[in-house]
Amino acid sequence: MNYFAVIMTIHGNISLQTLNTFGIDVSARWYGRFADAGELEELSGMKPGARMLVLGGGSNILFTGNFDGLVLKNDVKGITQLHEDEEFVYVRAGAGENWHRFVMYCIERNWAGLENLALIPGNVGASPIQNIGAYGVEIDDVFWDLEAWDLADKKLVTFTRGDCEFGYRESVFKKRYPNRFVILNVTYQLRKHPRFHTGYGAIEDELQRMGVQELSIKAIAEAVIRIRSAKLPDPAQIGNAGSFFKNPLVTAEKFQQLRREFAGIVGYENNEGMVKLAAGWLIEHCGPSDAVSWKGYRKGDAGCHEKQALVLVNHGKASGAAIFELSSSILKSVEDKFGVVLEREVNII
Ligand code: FAD
Ligand code: EPU
Repeated sequence: MNYFAVIMTIHGNISLQTLNTFGIDVSARWYGRFADAGELEELSGMKPGARMLVLGGGSNILFTGNFDGLVLKNDVKGITQLHEDEEFVYVRAGAGENWHRFVMYCIERNWAGLENLALIPGNVGASPIQNIGAYGVEIDDVFWDLEAWDLADKKLVTFTRGDCEFGYRESVFKKRYPNRFVILNVTYQLRKHPRFHTGYGAIEDELQRMGVQELSIKAIAEAVIRIRSAKLPDPAQIGNAGSFFKNPLVTAEKFQQLRREFAGIVGYENNEGMVKLAAGWLIEHCGPSDAVSWKGYRKGDAGCHEKQALVLVNHGKASGAAIFELSSSILKSVEDKFGVVLEREVNII
């Protein structure tokens, strides 16, 4: 018998309002925190048959009602430099580490690759779930492997990059095995000699405005932080979960057809000859029956952000159901006008 075993505590009927960046006022039937695989194993075994949900920073979740199950709050900490070779350094971070702090930690040590992903809210453990991305870089570009606890088979598993099946805002965890694997730590392969990604127009412009003479990963992170702060709402000020929908992919033919009808429509061709439409533009250029545009629209406390139409916001006391309903109206409106079906990016619980 292990006399030093920690007895895990499960709390009943816990408010989740401060644990999701939408600030939705819901509760969890049970709630417990874990700091390593052993604690997770114990905690997840305490309510056999219960529905389980792993929670990181709660910045990509919309709760549409109370959660009738066990919320597992990931508190796995620690950042370790595992090893290095000529080109790379391999850095492992605990899933409960704050993402932006981890990015800045790497930048301070001159480990390159994460600078374009600065200021994304949330924790390390969620970074592979939707293959987070911004300003021309995604986790797929820097991912090495991860360790996860399999809630079904009750064992530790390692996922390499190929196992994760990363796509645009997609992975095997989101698509195929939702809520089955609890990510405990992630290892990133970071460059000792940076390769700068400034192709995204806004970055070049911002670097110029900053008067940067010599490009560095620190300068890129600073530019990204400035751009993001200017246009994305801070969840500490107004509830939101970033882009609510994905940018939809259409064929080049469909894009040409749309462009003939809607001058100014924004789309970017990808490597496979498809065009990624800016969903923000589509949402801005259609609207409800009582307004010309969804952008800045508000019904009760549920709204569409005034500077970025792709972001839905909670002005105060909106319910998750009200935000979801607004998202359904936007979906229908975009489909009716452009014949394009949007897909929600945020995880609906
Ligand atoms: P949570 O919201 O807690 O969880 C998200 C999902 O992952 C849930 O399904 C949860 O069950 C699961 N999950 C979380 N942790 C684990 C784990 N350890 N193991 C298994 N499953 C887990 N995203 C981008 O990609 N690019 C952006 O530029 C971006 N900008 C944003 C800007 C704002 C203002 C906001 C609010 C959000 C933005 N997001 C962006 C979305 C969000 O920040 C990311 O998806 C982030 O990775 C979510 O992390 P989290 O820890 O908050 O995850
Ligand atoms: N646009 C509009 N109106 C709007 C918003 C956008 O017309 O209200 C048009 C503009 O022309 C703009 C273009 O859409 O040039 C693209 O907008 P932006 O650069 O803000 O990027 P986005 O496509 O809206 C995506 C990601 C963001 C990520 C940024 C930067 C998705 C779903 N969203 O947004 O990720 O930070 O690019 O790379 O891919 C997130 O996933 O939560 C998120 C914030």
